[in-house]
Amino acid sequence: MSPEKVYGGVHLVPYRGVSELFYCFVFKLYRWLAFLEKISPRRQSDFRLSVSHLRQKGFLPSAEDIQTQAESLARQLNRDSVVEDVTVGRAVINFKIKRDVLAEKILEQVSKEGHTFGLKSALLCGQQKGRTLVEFSSPNIAKKFHAGHLRSTIIGNFISNLKEALGNEVVRMNYLGDWGLQFGMLGAGFQDYGSQEELKANPLQHLFQVYVRVNAEAEKDEGVRQRAGEFFRQLESGEEEALALWRHFREISVGEYQRVYQRLGIRFHEYSGESFHQKQALDVLERLRAQGLLRTTEKGTGVVDLSPAGDMSCFATVLRSDGTSLYITRDLAAAIDRKEAYDFDEMIYVTDKSQEGHFRQVFQILRAMGHQWADSCRHVPFGLVRGMKTRKGEVVFLEDVLEEAKGRVLRNMQATWTSKELEDPDVTAERVGVAALIIQDFRGPLESDYSFDWGRVLQMQGDTGLFLQYTHSRLCSLTRMHGSGEGGPLDPMLLQEEQGAGVLKQILRYDEALLQCSCDLQPKHLVNFLLALSHLVAVGLRTLPVKGSPLPLAQARLRLFDSARTVLANGMRILGVTPVEKM
Ligand code: ARG
Repeated sequence: MSPEKVYGGVHLVPYRGVSELFYCFVFKLYRWLAFLEKISPRRQSDFRLSVSHLRQKGFLPSAEDIQTQAESLARQLNRDSVVEDVTVGRAVINFKIKRDVLAEKILEQVSKEGHTFGLKSALLCGQQKGRTLVEFSSPNIAKKFHAGHLRSTIIGNFISNLKEALGNEVVRMNYLGDWGLQFGMLGAGFQDYGSQEELKANPLQHLFQVYVRVNAEAEKDEGVRQRAGEFFRQLESGEEEALALWRHFREISVGEYQRVYQRLGIRFHEYSGESFHQKQALDVLERLRAQGLLRTTEKGTGVVDLSPAGDMSCFATVLRSDGTSLYITRDLAAAIDRKEAYDFDEMIYVTDKSQEGHFRQVFQILRAMGHQWADSCRHVPFGLVRGMKTRKGEVVFLEDVLEEAKGRVLRNMQATWTSKELEDPDVTAERVGVAALIIQDFRGPLESDYSFDWGRVLQMQGDTGLFLQYTHSRLCSLTRMHGSGEGGPLDPMLLQEEQGAGVLKQILRYDEALLQCSCDLQPKHLVNFLLALSHLVAVGLRTLPVKGSPLPLAQARLRLFDSARTVLANGMRILGVTPVEKM
């Protein structure tokens, strides 16, 4: 059955054609969806065929009156074993699918595919597959881990999870800010007021303290600045004593970060960093020079002309006048090195939008150097978060945010919920808190700035991470009490109610949400999908009781709710949220 033929079928042999069309639907041959829209569950119909789409694509003549065309097409379409009703709207034809067919097909598929449900859908098979390198989080050692790093961490993790789910091989990379004058400062400062004991006890905090203090001293004291410069020079020229201290700082910082990432359920394949590309940056400069791309300015800096007219109206500085490399030079070297090491099919950088210009320049220079693969590099920018604070004040460490979220959820739980029954309230509170942070961050377009507000993040009512966790735990508790309904045979005829059909139709759209995410890498599509699913589940749980229903009906409803739970959990995991079973 070729889609074209079936499509022609709609036009010429409507009855059979449309039947097949709906089988396509249930089996998800997506090409049809360009013509056929699934519409909101509140409306009467399930699917809608747009007559103007058919005209645009040349399947119907455009000269005739569109409404007459719609009516005549609808008259030729009959009901059958799949289609229960066909009606005409304004330039659209509405179809209603038999409830039992919908239930049987979807429930069967969810229970067969489980955590891979929807991922092999025909809709998604056109998506590029290959090796994706995602660079994210990338904090700077000894400096603050600010809200931007938190956003990069959760967005990068989402993109990695999504790509993996869709069949890509993903390399997760953390590119640490582990080089530069700040290490000169830190080295000089540590010699004056560092303590090995404190470094051991609270590594990140201690390094940050030293760093803040030495910076303050350096403001007043030229001598401190000189010693910092001297320490960095020792690092750059590879002097072992300085390097050993630097290495120590780096190792304990990475160790600490790993511990906190683990709390978020995030892992990296590689902790690279700017320091790795120090030497290679010099090679890049050599190559730029050999290719005639490097110019020396009057001030003695090295620049690459990026203007279309070649008049230096736009350029990038890649070499300081003292001969040292810059952030961008190290990024050029890092990109080339990664291409050689991983031979990725695409590379994605996740940072705040202030670095958009930086990455545009990186990609442009790579292209100018003849690296055509620069076209497969992409920067995913995100907006700023204002006012993220904890009880300790402004956010300095990632762990403080996690502690704050956990603490707040725990206090809520103690006040209102049945936390006494939980085996490990701390773990649950942390998962719920992280869900709240992630969902609040992912609800809008990534590029928007937003103001952070703990009250809003942790609302139970409304579209929050708490609501998703709560819905998931309610579904789990239903299964705990009554089973998943898989024990007995399924009678799909028992799932005729619109509330059940609403849940099923939403489940059917899961792959659409993933496709949208895959196209623009925005998590909001999946978030909105899951929130909508949760609202439909809430209606279902209220109106389709399991307790007290005759066994076959109870079984059918349990199957419905269990499928919703599976899809909810799958989606949450892709977002980076670990679903809780009780809360
Ligand atoms: N460490 C940088 C910062 O905190 C982010 C690094 C982004 N990645 C890159 N390849 N430049 O701003």
